[in-house]
Amino acid sequence: MQLQLEGIVKNFRDKEVLKGISLRLENGVYGLLGPNGAGKTTMIRILADILQPTKGRILINGQDKNACGDEYRAKIGYLPQDMSFYSDFTGRDYLEYVAALKGVPAAEAREQIEALARNVGLSGDLHRRCVTYSGGMQRRLGIAQALLDNPEILILDEPTAGLDPHERIKFRNIISAYSKDRLVLLSTHIVSDVDSIAKQVMMMEYGKVERLGSSEEYVRQIENCVWSLRIPVERLVEFQNSAVISNVVPHGDMMEVRVISENKPSADAVPVTPNLEDAYLYIFNYLPLKPAA
Ligand SMILES: Nc1ncnc2c1ncn2[C@@H]1O[C@H](COP(=O)(O)OP(=O)(O)OP(=O)(O)O)[C@@H](O)[C@H]1O
Ligand SMILES: [Mg+2]
Repeated sequence: MQLQLEGIVKNFRDKEVLKGISLRLENGVYGLLGPNGAGKTTMIRILADILQPTKGRILINGQDKNACGDEYRAKIGYLPQDMSFYSDFTGRDYLEYVAALKGVPAAEAREQIEALARNVGLSGDLHRRCVTYSGGMQRRLGIAQALLDNPEILILDEPTAGLDPHERIKFRNIISAYSKDRLVLLSTHIVSDVDSIAKQVMMMEYGKVERLGSSEEYVRQIENCVWSLRIPVERLVEFQNSAVISNVVPHGDMMEVRVISENKPSADAVPVTPNLEDAYLYIFNYLPLKPAA
C-alpha cells in the first residue's frame, strides 16, 4: 500500500491552512505530532476523503484517489477527532450501523463486532447507549468502528485522547499488531504513544510537515542537549522563561528539572539520555536543530 500526497494546499476562505504538503507513505505506523492549529486534522480529513484540497492530489498506489470513486473510501478506516452519536443508539447499534455502511454482511459484522469489542474492552457495554459512555469509552468505540472491515489504511485523529494508561497500552498493542501489512496514520499530543509504535514521526507546524524521521533519528539530533539539574521551587517560573523545560519532579525542597539546552545550563547540570518528547519540545521552541550526522 502506498499513499502519496502531492502539493496539498487547503484554504479556508483566504486563510492558507495547508501550505503544500508532499509526502509518500507506505505500510507501517506514522505518528503525526504538532501544536494546536498546525493543520493535522485538516490533513487527516483530506486523506479520509471528507474534505477536498484546494490544490494538489492524493495518489493511492499511483492512482488519483478521485478516480477510484467509492473504492478509496472502502479501503479507509477513519476515527475523527470529534465524534457525535445518535442519542438512542447503543454501542452495538452504532457498530452495526457503521458495518452496514461499509457493506459488511450481517453475520460477518456480528463476529467482527464481538472481537473488536473484546479488543477495546467494551464487551460488557455494547447494550448501553453511546451517549451514556465516558469520554474514554466513546474513544474506544470510535477505534473499534475505524477497525471494522479490516481497512488497508487506518487514519486516527487523536485516538488516545482521554484513554487511561491501561487502555492506552492496549491501544498501542492493537495498532502494533494491526500495522504489519497496513498503513496507519495517527495524530496525537501524547508523544510517548508514537514513540514506541511509529516507524516514522512527522512534525507539523503552520500547515507544513517540517520533519519526517524515525524516533531514533530525532533523538540522535539532540544528543548532549538534555540535562538534569536541581533548583529551588521559587526559581522555577523565572527559569522556564529562559530555558526549555521538558519535565519537573519534586525532590525534597528542590525541583529536579529536565532541561533542553545546547549549552550546559548550570555548573551542577548532568547530561541525561534524550527522548522523543525532548526532541518535540526542542523543535517547537524554534531552536535550530543540528544537522544530522
Ligand atoms: N472548517 C474550517 N473553517 C475555517 N478554518 C478552519 C476550519 N477547520 C480548521 N480551520 C483552521 O485551520 C487551522 C488548522 O486546524 P486543524 O484543526 O487542522 O489543526 P490541528 O493541528 O488538528 O489542531 P489540534 O491539535 O488543536 O487538533 C486552524 O487555524 C483552524 O482554525
Ligand atoms: Mg486536530
